[in-house]
Amino acid sequence: SFEQTLRPQTFAQYIGQSELKRSLRVYIEAAKQREESLDHVLLFGPPGLGKTTLATVIANEMGVHLKTTSGPAIEKSGDLAALLNELEPGDILFIDEIHRLPKAVEEMLYSAMEDFYIDIVVGQGPTAHPVHFALPPFTLIGATTRAGLLDAPFRNRFGIVEHMNYYQTTELEQIVKRSAQIFQTKIQPEGAHEIALRSRGTPRIANRLLKRVRDFAQVLGKEEIDVASVDQALMALGVDSEGLDRTDRKILATMIDFYNGGPVGLNTLAANIGEETETVAEMCEPYLLQSGYLKRTARGRMVTQAAYQHLGRPYPQDETKP
Ligand code: ADE
Repeated sequence: SFEQTLRPQTFAQYIGQSELKRSLRVYIEAAKQREESLDHVLLFGPPGLGKTTLATVIANEMGVHLKTTSGPAIEKSGDLAALLNELEPGDILFIDEIHRLPKAVEEMLYSAMEDFYIDIVVGQGPTAHPVHFALPPFTLIGATTRAGLLDAPFRNRFGIVEHMNYYQTTELEQIVKRSAQIFQTKIQPEGAHEIALRSRGTPRIANRLLKRVRDFAQVLGKEEIDVASVDQALMALGVDSEGLDRTDRKILATMIDFYNGGPVGLNTLAANIGEETETVAEMCEPYLLQSGYLKRTARGRMVTQAAYQHLGRPYPQDETKP
């Protein structure tokens, strides 16, 4: 499908995250030379930065199978046992949203990760007894939005722990150009630059915006995507000049208009704008912090002067504000 071709398959195709790629290439090469499975990998970072894609690339570079699942999809220990049972030596099990694994499943992973075995309780009541299952050496790749969501005993069992960063504008430009080529759509360099600038450092957003911009350009009868078609599409989508969407602006406006700029708690804020706390915490807040519209203080989250300016609100000049 389109989605699959959009996802890079090798490090050579994977744009950005250059430090992370440099390290991973070494670990992969060393594991291959020793004919061992790659050590377990924990990837953390905001959604849409390519954690799943990276797991695919790692599997391809190692030359092993990849089995993909997610924390909420594994409900019982038996579900995990079934997944582990299908692995061949060196294979990779990728668990997205690994912080959402049930505790019993997480604990079953401890022995699987450390010594490649699991103990399964067979039978009920007086006949219940543990059965020891040996596993092939395998690699667990876990992905989560924040490292702090995992308990130390679990986190410490990953030999490779890496953080994924927001992408540079030049990197997103390359990604947009590559995707446009896959879509067989012509795009002017200035158009790719404009999409990159307004994608909140996130390839998933850049690719989604590109698809909508392509729709607009097509209906407008444009031969190629230019800045004007990008502007029209992004205006219709509610994405502003800085890439903030309606939810981002609602967060900042609510903090300014109802909480005097903050501090305000995450749950209160989410309830006020009608979003899930997790959405605000994982999708919105990290970028607003990174781009300087929000800051964390000892008393909680507060908006910055840049947020007032961006929303066209007068910045309060009294002594209660820094
Ligand atoms: N598509 C989405 N993310 C990508 C990346 N990091 N490199 C190349 N293409 C991508």
